[in-house]
Amino acid sequence: MNCASESHAYVIFGATGNLAMAKLLPALYQLHSLGHLAPDVRILGCGRTPYAQDSWRAEVEKHLQTADAALLDSFLQRIDYLAGNLEDAAFYQALDAWMGASVCGNNVIFYLSVSPEFYVPITIRLAQAGLLVERTGWRRMVIEKPFGHDLQSARDLQHELNTRLDEEQIYRIDHYVGKESVQNLLVLRFANMILEPLWNRHYIDHVQITHAETIGLDGRANYYDRHGGATRDMIQSHLLQVLALLAMEPPVSLEAESLRDEKVKVLRSIRPLGQPQLASHAVRAQYAGYQQEAGVAAGSHTETYAALKLYVDNWRWRDVPFYLRTGKRLKERRSMVAVRFREPPMQLFQGSGASAVHPNWLLIGIQPDDVVQMEISAKVPGQETRTRQISMDASVGNPGERKADAYEDLLMDVIQGDRSLFLRYDEVKAAWNVVDPVMRGWADDERPPLQYPVGSWGPKAADQIFGQADREWRQTLSCNDKPESKL
Ligand code: BG6
Repeated sequence: MNCASESHAYVIFGATGNLAMAKLLPALYQLHSLGHLAPDVRILGCGRTPYAQDSWRAEVEKHLQTADAALLDSFLQRIDYLAGNLEDAAFYQALDAWMGASVCGNNVIFYLSVSPEFYVPITIRLAQAGLLVERTGWRRMVIEKPFGHDLQSARDLQHELNTRLDEEQIYRIDHYVGKESVQNLLVLRFANMILEPLWNRHYIDHVQITHAETIGLDGRANYYDRHGGATRDMIQSHLLQVLALLAMEPPVSLEAESLRDEKVKVLRSIRPLGQPQLASHAVRAQYAGYQQEAGVAAGSHTETYAALKLYVDNWRWRDVPFYLRTGKRLKERRSMVAVRFREPPMQLFQGSGASAVHPNWLLIGIQPDDVVQMEISAKVPGQETRTRQISMDASVGNPGERKADAYEDLLMDVIQGDRSLFLRYDEVKAAWNVVDPVMRGWADDERPPLQYPVGSWGPKAADQIFGQADREWRQTLSCNDKPESKL
């Protein structure tokens, strides 16, 4: 990461919200402490809640974990607050005045960390006030997910943005792609030769992508119950991005367009799930007690767990299932990719009464463990030829190495104008094409979602998505049961 060479201002709409306080401001603080922010960079928080400048700085300070008083003080000197109604023209006049007085170099990043219904009104007001025009400096806009709540609304949003901003000015953020472990997927695949020859339908049996959470709505019931649900909230964006990175062809370079060209090809190759496949390829469920949570609509069918079986219909992946699942209030917080390889053509080591040699797995921990593991069969020492699964483990980081938060990298990329980790509109559109038919099918189904107990691994029905007795969800990174087989 290079030092920011240009002066700019980060203007955060929705600055008093959870995302800004928990992620954006701490990430900017980290960039400041690492010396990546030019000396005259200013950070403006915008929101409805009135704050005097000092009390705003005190509020931000509460969310920063630091023991370095001087560093903290120099960071707080960078930040200001502007209160107002984000739909009111007067607010944008005040913003214009602040920019005139505070911004060196005329470069500004507008970060929309607000509820999605404000994306368009804020953009319109910024455009009307002339604040999106790039006269002497650049203007960039960061848009949080969800980009629309279905394909049509994504198109409408894109149209509204496009009439006021050039595509180069738009940064559609997916924080998952900024995670070190997710960026590592590219390195694993394209900086090594050992995987590539095996990375196709001839050697891979199936792929599982899991994002399991123990937390529930976390105070976001209004958003989640209306705009979210596990499929829209996690699969449409984060998990399909992971799938795209796993399944894409090698890009010609890491330049933004090359990378995004390859991702979009994968997303476009995913076979849409029609109504007839829904029952066997998609599972939705709600954790017990969801209906009683404050802010959840009575009788809500919003799913807090979803699992999909998808196929990428291209030369490399034809007929290899990709299983995606995510859920809230599950047994563990764990995100991982599990790639199961095919079995050898002959079970040479399978003796009578002994279990079969187990297939190889490549396991990639995304969080909390950032690890890469390969499970292989090996001989158990002794006279008899018995085999067991052993795991070759590699922790990705070295002791003492600091792991950057996803937002740190992404916020810095915006400053540097690097859009490679941000989503292009055609990627978003292709992802909605995958998710829309599922959501429509479920909306037409009057039966309530299945229920699963809090603290479980989700509904039992999710196990049936494999449709094959020898496939099941990988719940952990550790070797399943250390099975042994005897010749
Ligand atoms: C967000 C979703 O995008 O990602 C949340 O809206 C989810 O519902 C979160 O909890 C998970 O991301 P992470 O990085 O906190 O595991």
